[in-house]
Amino acid sequence: AMINSLNTNLDIQKSETSKIENVDFENLAFGRTFTDHMFVCDFIDGKWQQPKIMPYQAMTFEPSARVFHYGQAVFEGMKAYKDNAGKIWLFRPEANHKRINISSARLAMPEFPKDYFFAGLETLLKMDKEWIQPGIGNSLYIRPFVIATEPAISASPASTYRFMIICSPAKAYYSGKVRVLFAEKYSRSADGGVGFAKASGNYAAQFYPTSLAQEKGYQQIIWTDAHTHEYLEEAGTMNIFFRIDDRLVTAPTSDRILDGITRKSIIQLAEDNGVTVEIRRVPVTEIKEAARNGSLKEIFGAGTAAVVSPISAFEHGNEVFEIPDLENSYASKFKKQLQDIQHNLSEDKHGWRH
Ligand code: COI
Repeated sequence: AMINSLNTNLDIQKSETSKIENVDFENLAFGRTFTDHMFVCDFIDGKWQQPKIMPYQAMTFEPSARVFHYGQAVFEGMKAYKDNAGKIWLFRPEANHKRINISSARLAMPEFPKDYFFAGLETLLKMDKEWIQPGIGNSLYIRPFVIATEPAISASPASTYRFMIICSPAKAYYSGKVRVLFAEKYSRSADGGVGFAKASGNYAAQFYPTSLAQEKGYQQIIWTDAHTHEYLEEAGTMNIFFRIDDRLVTAPTSDRILDGITRKSIIQLAEDNGVTVEIRRVPVTEIKEAARNGSLKEIFGAGTAAVVSPISAFEHGNEVFEIPDLENSYASKFKKQLQDIQHNLSEDKHGWRH
């Protein structure tokens, strides 16, 4: 879609100065630095109002705004890339638009129109394009989100919301390898719950158990099913893949698992490479046994922020399993193929670039 044709219905207030001169693009902590502009659209009187782009700034809300009390909030994670010719690319953004509305529906929030989403996104990226660095490993992390703004502390859906997009230049989310704990006590999600949604509260609920894991030297938890803790599901910041011999195994999406865009792209790339992908339940016992007998070759996480993150060790039942480094790993191969598509360095046969 052309940006200019969509520009017209936006109210644009340009920043008078840019903060970009103060940014050290080589040393970016994830999600700490924000671009000059943001996109804002309010839902009032049953409809989305005039969308705006304005300088990135603090905002005021009444302390009674419902989001502060009941966590009625959803978000998305996506990235923009700059190719060597200076063109800007998004990766499967229609999937993010679809998913934020799936998340919103589950949280009893209104859907956000596709034309506003794309007009806002494309105009914002055009205005802040200097913030997108070319080269593999560089990207602009894009955070669309929706919050309940109505000042009222009764526990029911709000009548007013704010949809926003903010952007942050990003390098890797995890630097180096990730060690994980398989969950035995705590759970991330349950059947009939909100695990499939990018509900803000899903993330907050992981902080405490993850901090306990971190005290033991693990960056992340791989969550297991809440009923039995016998099946591996996802890591909260990423979906999880297991390579057993030359097969790739990952859990099916469900009520409890986020339908990751990187996840489904990796599944497609693996199939394109002739790799057998098994989408099925993944018993903890099978992975431990495979680690013992040497058939477990790799575990890696996949997500927009995390991209593809190899896992170097896991702990379960007080047993620690180290996963030796592998040359020509699926993780490095599929990561490169994915990034080449994202950065317009290879053919886009599935039409993922936008
Ligand atoms: C993403 O990968 O974009 C996410 O939303 C995960 C988040 C915890 C950084």
